[in-house]
Amino acid sequence: MAKHKIALIPGDGIGKEVLPEGVRVLEAAARRFNFQLEFTDFDWSCDRLLQTGKMMPDDGMEQLKAFESIFLGAVGWPGVPDHVSLWGLLIPIRRDFDEYVNLRPVRLFEGVPSPLANRKPGEIDFWVVRENTEGEYSQLGGRMFQGTENEFAVQEAVFTRKGVDRVLKFAFEFARGTKKHVTSATKSNGIIHTMPFWDERFAEMKKNYPDIKTDQYHIDILTAHFVRNPDWFDVVVGSNLFGDILSDLGPALTGSIGVAPSGNINPERKFPSMFEPVHGSAPDIAGKWIANPIGQIWSGAMMVRHLGYPEAAEAIERAIAASLVEGGPRTRDLGGNGDTKTVGAAIAELVKTV
Ligand code: NAI
Ligand code: MG
Repeated sequence: MAKHKIALIPGDGIGKEVLPEGVRVLEAAARRFNFQLEFTDFDWSCDRLLQTGKMMPDDGMEQLKAFESIFLGAVGWPGVPDHVSLWGLLIPIRRDFDEYVNLRPVRLFEGVPSPLANRKPGEIDFWVVRENTEGEYSQLGGRMFQGTENEFAVQEAVFTRKGVDRVLKFAFEFARGTKKHVTSATKSNGIIHTMPFWDERFAEMKKNYPDIKTDQYHIDILTAHFVRNPDWFDVVVGSNLFGDILSDLGPALTGSIGVAPSGNINPERKFPSMFEPVHGSAPDIAGKWIANPIGQIWSGAMMVRHLGYPEAAEAIERAIAASLVEGGPRTRDLGGNGDTKTVGAAIAELVKTV
């Protein structure tokens, strides 16, 4: 039986409450589909930072290299500045492991009300592919003349041919398994160097994929289309900044942030990929055990798909869908009064048969 080594990083707040439910469902899926997951726990978190001064040990990245995937809860806690927790753990993992694709599904489940009026399941069902390592989120730049009236700030965006081409290629390859349609997010009218370059690379890449339908929109009207015409989309690819915005807007159209999953993927599998819910550590509800575990559980489905078990991934997704339709327990964010563990246990039970 194939065995896969998985690093577990629950992190902070509700991360510690939802991650065990993700593991419970993964174990049920592994039993049914005959593979083994070997989990190792890491207490890397803001708690650890407050005790030891570091989010992770100095050889943390080296330790993680021994794993096939990383399954993460959420990181961040009041009292620790968010940029410290983010740059102390998540950003090093995403960048040093070259997880250059951030993949987020946007799907409206039956039984979950959308904030968009009259939208039915099936009408919102697409993927956002975000570039995850370069673009607008670069350390290049600086500030001068602080505190004077000549003060200024410069922030450089970095778009490399290699970096742009590889995320576009991922989007096109991915679309072969979906509805064969790729939409590019651009802004080549306003951002006159990097975005025309992005458009050129997109035009070049699509020549390799005559079977895939393409279109492109400037980011401003694209956000409007997400709201007005979410049924137009299949795979939407964008730079780090545009993808960041679209990948929060998308899940917001489908109900609770508590159900949204994500993958930080190194497609070449040279390094581990990391799967985590979109939400953060939710200090406002942490400790009450009312957090929705579905975002974590669905991230687990993305992880086993990456490990090569699409049937297990589909079973987990069917179990989530079934729990939402068939009057199973649901958490408060979805209008129920179920707690985190009850929802996790119900989905784990469904995975055995659904
Ligand atoms: P958040 O996602 O933690 O919470 C936003 C709102 O959504 C809160 O009202 C929360 O109660 C609710 N919520 C989130 N997840 C939920 C769930 N599973 N079930 C039910 N309700 C849920 O975002 P916020 O408040 O901006 O950030 C809190 C901390 O989390 C910060 O320290 C932030 O830096 C960190 N964070 C970490 C992320 C990560 O680890 N990838 C992502 C986003 C934020
Ligand atoms: Mg974001």
